[in-house]
Amino acid sequence: MATYEFVLMIAPVLLVWYFAIRRGKKPSEPTTWPVLGMLPAVLLNLHRVHDYATEVLTECGGTYRVVGPRMDMLFTSAPACDPANIHHVFSRNFSNYSKGPEFHKIFDIFSDDIFRAYFELWEIHRKTTLAQLMHGDFNANLQRNVWHKVDTGLFPVLDHFSGARTDLDLQDIFQRLAFDNICKFVLDYDPCSLRPDLPFLPCEKAFSAVMEALLHRHVFPEWMWKLQKWLNVSDERNLAKAAVAFDDFIYPRIISGVNVLKAFEKVYRERNMASSNGSLRDFLKDTSLNLMFAGRDLTSTCLTWLFWLVSQNPASETKILEEMEAELRLKEDKKFRFFSAQESHKLVEMYLHGALCESLRLFPPVALEHKAPVRPDILSSGHHLHGDKKLIISFYSVGRMESVWGKDYLEFKPERWISPSGKIKYEPSYKFPAFSAGRPRTCLGKEMAFVQMKTVAAAILYRYMVRLVEGHRVSPRVLITLQARDGLKVLLSKRNWI
Ligand code: HEM
Repeated sequence: MATYEFVLMIAPVLLVWYFAIRRGKKPSEPTTWPVLGMLPAVLLNLHRVHDYATEVLTECGGTYRVVGPRMDMLFTSAPACDPANIHHVFSRNFSNYSKGPEFHKIFDIFSDDIFRAYFELWEIHRKTTLAQLMHGDFNANLQRNVWHKVDTGLFPVLDHFSGARTDLDLQDIFQRLAFDNICKFVLDYDPCSLRPDLPFLPCEKAFSAVMEALLHRHVFPEWMWKLQKWLNVSDERNLAKAAVAFDDFIYPRIISGVNVLKAFEKVYRERNMASSNGSLRDFLKDTSLNLMFAGRDLTSTCLTWLFWLVSQNPASETKILEEMEAELRLKEDKKFRFFSAQESHKLVEMYLHGALCESLRLFPPVALEHKAPVRPDILSSGHHLHGDKKLIISFYSVGRMESVWGKDYLEFKPERWISPSGKIKYEPSYKFPAFSAGRPRTCLGKEMAFVQMKTVAAAILYRYMVRLVEGHRVSPRVLITLQARDGLKVLLSKRNWI
C-alpha cells in the first residue's frame, strides 16, 4: 500500500480519536495524550506559561489538575472559585503543608534555609530574621542606607546616561541597586555594583541564571536535569557556575559578629545546630544567600513593572508627581531630598502606593507558590490532595481574574487601592497574595521592600522624564521570578526644575 493511501485511511481514525479525547474539554484545556499526558501543551506554551495557566484556570473554574510523565499537579487560583482553599492551605491547616520533596530537590541551591525549610528549622530562621527587622533602629538605618544608595549610586549612574543621551536598562539598574542594598543589610558590605561603568559582578548576575534553570527543572523530568548535571551542560552548567559565584562572593565576606549574621551565629551555637546543619560557615553562607535572593530579585522586579506600567499610562505619572509635590512640599525648595520617617509614612497614603500595588497585582514577582500535604487532605473546594500530588497556586492568575478584580482587571488603576476617604484600601492576602498568603509564612521583607521601592520610584520620577526606547517590546520572561524578558530599555532626560 502506498504511503498516501495509508495516510488517507488512518486520518479519519486519528481525527475521530482526537475529537474523542477532546470531548467535553474547554478550548484552552490541554489535551491528555497517551504516555505524554499534558506535557506537549505545557511545552508548547512554556514561553507564556503564566498567561496560559490563567486562561485554563479562568475557563475551568479556578482549579485544574495537570498530569504528565512523573507530573501530577493541582493548579489553582483558588479565590476565583473558593477563597477558603487558600485560607485552608496557608493558615488553618498550615502545619500539614510543606513545599514538598520535589521543591526540595529543585531548589537545592538554596539549601535548608528559610525558603526551603519547614517546621522547626523554618521557625528558627523566621524568628531570627524577624527580630532583626523589628530591631529598634532598623527602620531609621534602612531609610538612611537606601537614600545614601540613591544619592551616591543611582543618581550618578542616571545622570551619566541622561547626559550622554544613551539608553539604559532600568531592570539591570534596579537589580544592581537592590543587590547593593541587601548586601549592606546582610553582610554589612556594599559591593558598589551600581556605578556608571556598570561593572560585571558574577554573583549579582548569577541570580537570574539560577531563576531560569530552576523553572526548567519544574517542567523537565528529574532524570533529564540529572543527566545535564552529570554532563555539566546547559542549565545545570549555569547552576554550577552560579553556585561557585555565590560561594566566591559570600564566604570571604562572612565576618563573625556582623549585623544580621551575628544573630544567626548566636542561634546556631545556642541550639547546637552543627550536627544537623553543617558548619557555621556554611550555615551563614546559606542564610545570606536566601536573604540576598529575596532582597535583590523581588523588589527590582516590582520596580521594573511599575516603570513599564507608568510609561504606558502617562496620566498616572502626573498624578504621582502632583501628590509628591503637595505632600512633601517639594515645590518650596525645588530639590528632591531624603524624606524623613514621617514623610515617608505620608507616601503610604499616596497614589504611588496604589501604583506599586497594581504592579504587584499584575506582575507578582513570585508568580507561583508550591505546597504539598504531609498527610492526605481535602481542600475546601472538595479536591483531594495526597503526598505525591503538588499544589501549585498561581499568584499571577489570582491578580488577573475578572471574578476577583472586576471588569477592568487588566487595567493599571492605582485608584483601585484608594478608598473614598483617601486611605489605602486593605485587600486580603488570598485576593492579593504578592507577599504570600496567610499570616504564618507571609513575606518578612514587605515593609523593607516598600520603603526601598517608594524612595527609588519617587526619586527617579521627580528627577527624570523616563521614556521607553522606541520599538522595545516588554514581556515577562519565563523564570521563577517574573522579570522582564529583555529588560526595560529607557531614555532619561532631567526635568527642567533639576
Ligand atoms: C516586592 C518585593 C517582595 C515581594 C513581592 C516578596 C514576596 C514574597 C513571597 C511571595 C514570599 C513567600 C515565598 C515562599 O514561601 O515561597 C516571601 C517570603 C519571604 N520574603 Fe519576601 N518579598 C519581597 C521582598 C522581600 C525583601 C526585601 C526581603 C528582605 C530580606 C524579603 C524577605 C522574605 C523572607 C525572609 C521570606 C520567607 C518568609 C518565610 O518563609 O517565613 N522579601 N516574600
